[in-house]
Amino acid sequence: SEDDMEPAGKTTIDLGNSSFAALQDIGGFAYSGDIIIIRTGESTYIALSKICTHQGCTVSYNSSTNQLPCPCHGSLYAISGAVVNGPAENALKAYTVSKAGNILTIS
Ligand code: FES
Repeated sequence: SEDDMEPAGKTTIDLGNSSFAALQDIGGFAYSGDIIIIRTGESTYIALSKICTHQGCTVSYNSSTNQLPCPCHGSLYAISGAVVNGPAENALKAYTVSKAGNILTIS
């Protein structure tokens, strides 16, 4: 991928990059490394770790339910990262997203 992983644990993504074209639409989502970015509004985004806190499988985003299921043992997470159904007991890690022009900074 062409996303820019910075050393300080910060990720920046350029919304003009075709890899992130899905984020042009509200409800759209894209992956960058181990992070799922979801566009929730005109200029609001959520970024969550895609690593299930149960045993580390990769969750996906279901835009029709607005939840994140894990394929391995059925854990289900809300868009906040909170656990909806176990066996996972801990929330997905949630990141802070800020937007400046076409650049999202995730930290
Ligand atoms: Fe996700 Fe077990 S690793 S539910």
